[in-house]
Amino acid sequence: MLIPSTDLNGHAAPARRGQRIRFRNPTVDDGLRVWELIAACPPLDQNSIYCNHLQCSHFADTCMLAEQGGDAVGWVSAYWPPAKPSTLFIWQIAVHPKARGEGLGRELIEALLESDACAGVRRIETTITAANDLSWALFKATARSLGAPLRREPWFDRDAHFDGRHDTEHLVRIGPFDASKEASA
Ligand SMILES: CC(C)(COP(=O)(O)OP(=O)(O)OC[C@H]1O[C@@H](n2cnc3c(N)ncnc32)[C@H](O)[C@@H]1OP(=O)(O)O)[C@@H](O)C(=O)NCCC(=O)NCCS
Repeated sequence: MLIPSTDLNGHAAPARRGQRIRFRNPTVDDGLRVWELIAACPPLDQNSIYCNHLQCSHFADTCMLAEQGGDAVGWVSAYWPPAKPSTLFIWQIAVHPKARGEGLGRELIEALLESDACAGVRRIETTITAANDLSWALFKATARSLGAPLRREPWFDRDAHFDGRHDTEHLVRIGPFDASKEASA
């Protein structure tokens, strides 16, 4: 286990923030709550509620919800890129502003990596805009924790792909690593 307090079988983890945080894969009934959480977490792109319903159903095995006192306080969505079977692509990660800076972002990723569905993961990929300092801090910390290198390069370009309407998304690659080993940091 990367973080011993994380219980992926639907049980509550030990309390560290007053009320316990519970990690679980989403169900088809969580899509609207996820959409509302994302709305509270700029600069994340707001996708359609329908998209979040698909994540919570077809992609539930590679998504993780964190609840505290019944509230959705954290979310990570991910999927397997078709041509990269051992790579987990993290689409979005969100921690409600009231729960930030206490390790929940890292725990969400670690909870996903510890889940049975992700047993074969050797690499993580995601995209981050240059100005998103909190996201860079999270993924750099994750790479350190996994003892894996982090590489970055521009991918979806502001002008070529977004017609100036969105900042360039940098492709971030973390790995290779063995998620079954104890975190080194
Ligand atoms: C990015 C985000 C998910 C991080 O969640 P979080 O629970 O606050 O992150 P953590 O507490 O796990 O912190 C992760 C690392 O970032 C660092 N960090 C957290 N807040 C920080 C801050 N305000 N300033 C500097 N570093 C910070 C932590 O120290 C930690 O590194 P460490 O383990 O080496 O100490 C959260 O800020 C968020 O939802 N942001 C808005 C949505 C977004 O931009 N998502 C990412 C793009 S998909």
